[in-house]
Amino acid sequence: MNERETLKINSKGHLEIGGADSVELANRFGTPLYVFDEAHIRNMMRVYKNTLETEYGGNGQVLYASKAFSCMAIYAIAKQENIGIDVVSGGELYTALKAGFDASNIYFHGNNKLSDELELAVENEVGCIVVDSYREADILNLIAEKHNLTQSVLIRINPGIEAHTHAFVQTARTDSKFGFSVSDGAAEEMVKYILGKPNLRLKGFHCHIGSQIFEKQSFVLAAEKVMDFMADIKKKHSYNAETLNIGGGFGIWYNSEDPELKYNDYAEYLKALISAIRNKAKVHSLKEPYLVIEPGRSIVGEAGITLYTVGAIKEIRGVKKYVAVDGGMFDNPRYALYQSKYTVLLANRANEKCVEKVSVAGKCCESGDLIAVDVALPKAESGDIMAVLSTGAYNYSMASNYNRNLIPAAVLVKDGKAEYIIKHQSYDDIIRNDVVPGYLK
Ligand code: LLP
Repeated sequence: MNERETLKINSKGHLEIGGADSVELANRFGTPLYVFDEAHIRNMMRVYKNTLETEYGGNGQVLYASKAFSCMAIYAIAKQENIGIDVVSGGELYTALKAGFDASNIYFHGNNKLSDELELAVENEVGCIVVDSYREADILNLIAEKHNLTQSVLIRINPGIEAHTHAFVQTARTDSKFGFSVSDGAAEEMVKYILGKPNLRLKGFHCHIGSQIFEKQSFVLAAEKVMDFMADIKKKHSYNAETLNIGGGFGIWYNSEDPELKYNDYAEYLKALISAIRNKAKVHSLKEPYLVIEPGRSIVGEAGITLYTVGAIKEIRGVKKYVAVDGGMFDNPRYALYQSKYTVLLANRANEKCVEKVSVAGKCCESGDLIAVDVALPKAESGDIMAVLSTGAYNYSMASNYNRNLIPAAVLVKDGKAEYIIKHQSYDDIIRNDVVPGYLK
């Protein structure tokens, strides 16, 4: 844990988040429970926004990539912090609009946006749509024409960068379902196509090279390649791109193998990007582009923890000890999907020495339903409160009702006080859309 002080251990030996005792939170709200520290979220938003302000004269915009954690309250925070958002589905867009988010500060992504999603975006006058297919360009142009407006768009391009991260979250390799490749001329073809669409206004380019990336050089290389592409397009088609959206992807701390970045380290990522873009602008005699970044994980990831109650404990002699909790892959599928490693501790005995290695199992009917494998813990007992750290990003947003388990509630902690931001599901929620046809009754 780091200077950001989201987490502390208090005099009772309990884990504290944002000044709230996590054991008290577990007692008050029940478990499993997602808990978010509001100060951390705001501070991360401010780091990016202030750095753009001071280092690039404010010639750009921070978008919170809301796929990391989407609910009405997070959009309300982004709105107060005066940053934009990126959405990637009609559902995220609808949630943001219902939260009162200004549509002009929304960018809409997705490799296969549906017609009704595009319709929803255009009729609400979403600021920018990041086009990722010919079909989308055609549909969007028609919808914009129908609404008698010109829709601002970016083209998602693929500069062919291999970022050092899990293969499933690499997105800008040549073989990717996202974007148009620069190297084979597909991106250039798309530029010509969009420029020929009367109701689309091409503002520039977007690329996103992957997620949970720590190497500055990956971002720098991507930005340089996009700038080279912009220069090439300007030469060949006299088209001046105004906007460069470089996506998100900055890594966070999950466990002892990860670096513990400070706020300032995230500013450094942005500074490195800015300096690469400035150099390339000079080299190519281009105007410095409007720079858009889309961090998701780094804004909410370390701000969140999940609290569970320990239930069954099972020792397979000479093999393994399983400590089961009241959650699992339905609230955090990231071990099952990516073998992601988390830091786990007993929130009610956070000062105690670790004396054994255990695997933390969920309650789903599936052997792969694990939260952490071979992690050190004090001797866990049924009833202990377990905290899993850095679960703020891509946990709730990827949760499911597998086995008809209930998706946990989420609370937001501010100055030690907690408020619901997502209420508990009920069994009635689970059957809400079920229908039993008459002939089965
Ligand atoms: N922009 C675009 C176009 C993206 O596709 C993404 C993430 C982001 C921004 C935000 O990236 P971030 O700053 O959060 O790294 N479910 C995976 C992560 C998938 C990321 C998808 N795109 C996981 O749990 O690790």
